[in-house]
Amino acid sequence: MNGDVSFIGKDIVSINDLSRKDIEYIMDVAETMVPYAKGEKSGRILKGKILGNLFFEPSTRTRLSFESAAHRLGLDVLDVSEMSMTSMAKGETLSDTIRMVDTYCDAIVLRHPHDGAARLAANVAKSPVINAGDGAGSHPTQTLLDLFTIKRSMGSIDGLNIVLLGDLKYGRTVHSLSNALTRFGAKLTFVAPESLQMPQDIIDSLTANNCKPYITDKLDDVIESADVLYVTRIQRERFPDPAEYQKVAGCYRIDNEALRNAKKEMIVMHPLPRVNEIAPEVDDTEHAKYFEQAFNGIPVRMALLSSIMGGEL
Ligand code: CP
Repeated sequence: MNGDVSFIGKDIVSINDLSRKDIEYIMDVAETMVPYAKGEKSGRILKGKILGNLFFEPSTRTRLSFESAAHRLGLDVLDVSEMSMTSMAKGETLSDTIRMVDTYCDAIVLRHPHDGAARLAANVAKSPVINAGDGAGSHPTQTLLDLFTIKRSMGSIDGLNIVLLGDLKYGRTVHSLSNALTRFGAKLTFVAPESLQMPQDIIDSLTANNCKPYITDKLDDVIESADVLYVTRIQRERFPDPAEYQKVAGCYRIDNEALRNAKKEMIVMHPLPRVNEIAPEVDDTEHAKYFEQAFNGIPVRMALLSSIMGGEL
């Protein structure tokens, strides 16, 4: 492991807070966590500490994989999965809620529907805060597990052709991921209808980091050269106007026909949940990596929690 990197007590709000060296450190620790994440070995290195797992927006993978990671490390978990069951339903502010939870635990994981909520929580709490997704903002732990999945599948991330497809406007996973990929010299292609293309401020920041993405609405034109196809759901819940959602719903569907010209070793990823954008027939192909990707959330989150809370195997 890299002795120059220290995560003790660190907030993880945005992937932009992490250098390439930091990301590589977490991926190296995550690799050692895989047998523990699978339950093949036991390493309760954070026994006696408490994690606050606050989810104020629906989640399956992030909430449960943080909880699983915590249990595998021996942490006790304060689990909140509904805002309506907290005093926020009586009008308490997020700031006061975080101030209280901070005194009950040693680290806080927060998912919230509003962009900026994790930064606010990190400013209020003395304990480290990990952003588990804030509105259309960012989802840094998803990015870490995405990068870990690419590295494990392809051997390296450097210089790969990565195609991001779907809801690039509201998709926080693709915002965080595309930023992180510039640190690995990846070549990016954005495939989306014009109304869901990547926001200009993100394109500008990528370009400033020597990564000028290729932008199109046609997957067929770029599939042949892709090493990774990262598919996202068109997120109905993020559209201010339901009529705008209806115009683009179902605009891409990845099935075996759509993948006919793909390289044999190209991988298909998806942060999940999927709706109709990947046909179940793809699940049985060598391309499908999305369920393995979801599992990788456990070793990656174990690596983060142990690095932040100060435990070593
Ligand atoms: N990938 C992801 O964030 O999934 P959940 O919304 O189920 O946590």
